Amino acid sequence: MAGSIGLQLCSAVEEREERALVPVPREFQSRALIKSREQYEEMYKQSIQDPSRFWGKIASQFYWHRMWDTSKPVFRSNFDIRQGPIFNEWFKGGFTNICYNALDKHVNEGRGEQVAMLWEGNDVGHEMRLTYSDVLQKTCQLANYLRKRGVKKGDRVCIYMPMVPELPIAMLACARIGAIHSVIFGGFSAESLAGRILDCKSDVLLSCSAVQRGAKVLNLKVIVDEALQLCLEKESFQPGTVLIYDNKNAVPRSKVKWVAGRDLWWQDEVRSCSTVAPVEWMEAEDPLFLLYTSGSTGKPKGVLHTIGGYMVYAATSFEYVFDYQPGDIFWCTADCGWITGHTYICYGPLLNGATQVVFEGVPTYPSPSRWWEIIEKYKVSIFYTAPTAIRSLEALGDKHVTKHNLSSLRVLGTVGEAINAKAWHWYHRVVGQGRCPIVDTWWQTETGGIMITPLPGAWSLKPGSATLPFFGVQPVVLDQDGKEQDGPCSGYLCIKGAWPGMARTLYGDHKRFAETYFTTWPGLYVTGDGCQREANGYITLTGRVDDVVNVSGHRISIGEVESALTSHKLCAETAAVAFDHDVKGQGIYAFVTLVEGAKPSEQLKNEIKAAVRKEIGSFAVPDVIQWAPGLPKTRSGKIMRRILRKIAANQFDELGDVSSLADPAVVEQLVEGKRGGARISKL
Ligand code: PRX
Repeated sequence: MAGSIGLQLCSAVEEREERALVPVPREFQSRALIKSREQYEEMYKQSIQDPSRFWGKIASQFYWHRMWDTSKPVFRSNFDIRQGPIFNEWFKGGFTNICYNALDKHVNEGRGEQVAMLWEGNDVGHEMRLTYSDVLQKTCQLANYLRKRGVKKGDRVCIYMPMVPELPIAMLACARIGAIHSVIFGGFSAESLAGRILDCKSDVLLSCSAVQRGAKVLNLKVIVDEALQLCLEKESFQPGTVLIYDNKNAVPRSKVKWVAGRDLWWQDEVRSCSTVAPVEWMEAEDPLFLLYTSGSTGKPKGVLHTIGGYMVYAATSFEYVFDYQPGDIFWCTADCGWITGHTYICYGPLLNGATQVVFEGVPTYPSPSRWWEIIEKYKVSIFYTAPTAIRSLEALGDKHVTKHNLSSLRVLGTVGEAINAKAWHWYHRVVGQGRCPIVDTWWQTETGGIMITPLPGAWSLKPGSATLPFFGVQPVVLDQDGKEQDGPCSGYLCIKGAWPGMARTLYGDHKRFAETYFTTWPGLYVTGDGCQREANGYITLTGRVDDVVNVSGHRISIGEVESALTSHKLCAETAAVAFDHDVKGQGIYAFVTLVEGAKPSEQLKNEIKAAVRKEIGSFAVPDVIQWAPGLPKTRSGKIMRRILRKIAANQFDELGDVSSLADPAVVEQLVEGKRGGARISKL
């Protein structure tokens, strides 16, 4: 007994030490863009008290073909449904082009020969350096080709590609001609791809023959064929242009199944197009892109961002959050299929004229040192990645990191999920050699850019805490009753007031946009996350408060997983919950009730998992499937997920009162099943 109390005390002390404040090194601070909390507070105050002046001044540094009406405030918004429709407009009446600002502006100002992308392929030795002029020329060629195919302002273009340079180039080409891009992460299944093509009726699909991921080859074109077949079957719809990038490194052309009359080879078609393409001048509130993300219910939502506000917010957050300064080499390991890749690969760095690494491969191929090799090779100074990756590389041992010279690093960042203190310290000590501040950046697909984050030279870090709001962002914490709380507290995280980077709507469904984000507490944007706030104002995110799980930083809807599980003909009913996972942050635990007469077996579990892979993609496959003779339900038929979460977490003593359930015996059976499962997995 005494021993266990001793142990508890010990771990409480360790926990306190692990979470103690970590000051910014003086050396870093003296050279940082924002050098103190006071300097930040001053700018923050301006951004909140006079957003028009604050953002107007920043926005005027971009190229505007026609200025917005400077006699009016730079924005208008309404977040209170009781006052009328939800809207948010920035720089209205101004005309610009984000591609022009990301590429032409630098070339015209004499920086054409600067490297924009240091592309590193999956295999060592596959690499490419693209200057700003190179990227501009390639972008123009594709823009011209798309125009030749009839693509014009407002048309949707779906992009389903791996991390070859042509992916950001495709996004930029769309932006150049005013087409709306919708990038679909290369890990999505044919079903998901088809659903997204159909939702926005995209007349163009840009894709790729195949991709190498580590030692594996994924034949994207096979998935494309299947998806287009599904489009035909479901809605007799087919994109008019299907352009396939020939990724020779992954698969030879001769091995790619071809649909004559429909499929076109990218390189053959685009090669002859001119490297100069006029820019389509776009109104600031014209759409820039759609990006589908998971909600707590129903089908994925096409989050829509517009041009002016997103451009200004992406560029500004990139500069200040990463303390970007000329000469830095930036590397964000995300994929352009997610919002992080949109804002901090495609747009933010290029708008700042930065040089960045773009990596096609995986962190452990061909060896667990790959990332650290790349940092050493390109002298990366700012490195931005996900906690899941940090945890899995930590597990492989320090030696893979320490044998490399990482002295070029000066800022580290994390995104996508909470980082636990242990992984934070490893990242800080082993990767950053105690020298580099870590920016733990909290944001969402909907927010467009980073919202709560340390500014690396300005205040002490706290492992696991995203700390303070970025300029223009006003977080509020609500209690159970929706009352705004002051000072230290915990509760629901909402955002008050407008910021330029915020999504404007859900594609084709403004009603759902208003209902999802603005109905629970009128006047506020509801993030769906919980948080704690300390006396010093630091905010620590505590996870989703809705039915969304975050697996390895991938945002997945529980509802979607359940419907994928029940797509298997032998699944009668399912309930999925999140559980804590050492590496992935969260994992998915699925309880499955089979149809009458079906025999449970390992093979059946694999088949059910395959159904999820088919419907959504590998990243959404449950880690555990437990057979459930029944599910715990209230008498009105509502599944009690709270109980299932406790069972999945082995917290059998915390199940609470189950007597009011329709069939309390079910809980006992599930606990037994879980205990039995645990025993089996230990054997
Ligand atoms: O729960 C939060 C978590 O990721 C969600 C947003 O997911 P998505 O739209 O896919 O965008 C991810 C990349 C920006 C949030 O609602 N999240 C993101 N960053 C953090 C985080 N949770 C804790 N700490 C973070 N730094």
